[in-house]
Amino acid sequence: MSIRDRFPILQKKVYLNSCSQGALSLDVKQAYETYLRDWDEKGSPWEVWMERGEAARQAFAGLVNAEPDEVAVCTSVSAGVSALASALDFSGERNKVVVSDFEFPTIGQIWHAQERRGARVVHVPAAGNIIPTERFAEAIDERTKIVSITHVCFRNGSRLDVPAIVELAHRQGALVLLDSYQALGTFPIDVKALQVDFLTGGTLKYLLASAGLACLYVRKDLIPDLQPTTLGWFSQANIFAMDIYANSPSPTARRFEAGSPPVPNIYAGLAGINLIQSIGLEKIETHLLELTGAIKEGAMQRGFTLVTPADPARHGALITLRSHNVTQLVGRLEEGGIITSSRDNNLRISPHIYNNLDDVNRLMDCLTHHKELLV
Ligand SMILES: Cc1ncc(COP(=O)(O)O)c(C=O)c1O
Repeated sequence: MSIRDRFPILQKKVYLNSCSQGALSLDVKQAYETYLRDWDEKGSPWEVWMERGEAARQAFAGLVNAEPDEVAVCTSVSAGVSALASALDFSGERNKVVVSDFEFPTIGQIWHAQERRGARVVHVPAAGNIIPTERFAEAIDERTKIVSITHVCFRNGSRLDVPAIVELAHRQGALVLLDSYQALGTFPIDVKALQVDFLTGGTLKYLLASAGLACLYVRKDLIPDLQPTTLGWFSQANIFAMDIYANSPSPTARRFEAGSPPVPNIYAGLAGINLIQSIGLEKIETHLLELTGAIKEGAMQRGFTLVTPADPARHGALITLRSHNVTQLVGRLEEGGIITSSRDNNLRISPHIYNNLDDVNRLMDCLTHHKELLV
């Protein structure tokens, strides 16, 4: 079966909204059916469900080249990062949190919530559609506890120079959290090569599965000294000890988990990640470079304003165009059978492995038809 045939929606729509939600595959649909069948046939198969949870941990670890014990399986990026933030000590001299202005709101909100615990949050502002690395150099100093950056910005598709920022942070003794939600599933990611201390992301977008499943990578040697206060029984060393008299965190990154795992999302997430891995991230990366290249070229030829940086090394799978009235533009495209989305005044076009150049051509024709809505 071809890749496109695995996604029934493609028979009816040009689907270019993977930055928001990956298209539903037959594989993920079947995974949900398997979940229901297991529940129906086995009753309460918690052993099976726990095994699936461990399989999800391994799958996330495999995606980013981590060890399974370095991965917490969370219900959202927000939950994982909140647990991480709760484990950091801001009471001393080193209390500064450096946050890029390209972060998803949840990240900024979580760090600002730590102000009550002594954190000082400093934002690194953008210069147009990029954040120059020098701006991080100005913000990061010997009082910086953590530098919190996004891999690819959800608003404009801009990709930060992660290795350069990690080097700046580590030179000052600061930790680095990388939010890879908009990158996971679009190109190979290796936490060891990037040398990030923490990485997070979820399955909703380019991992082709559902909301309610995410991961938090925590570098192995950091785990023993990080004691989250946002937790639950699934974060304990022995989940089924049922000890009401003590908090005994797991020695692994599981200490960043909380309550009962999101079992249906784990079935779906595993199917999505397995599908991505069976295609291969190098192949996906090459395909997306071709498609994003064609979108940028088509837009520039027609005189549309590209918000995303043109340099392929400086953007992810998301290309954004400036619009006078983006809500109307998304609506017009939808009437033409083309699914996109928007943030700010930007039209977000986010292809995946299941898109092709015909999709790009149809998009360009429709945009040309509505060019009065573009800048
Ligand atoms: C870059 C990025 N980070 C975080 C999130 C939110 O993650 P969650 O809803 O799992 O907390 C999103 C979702 O849109 C995102 O794009």
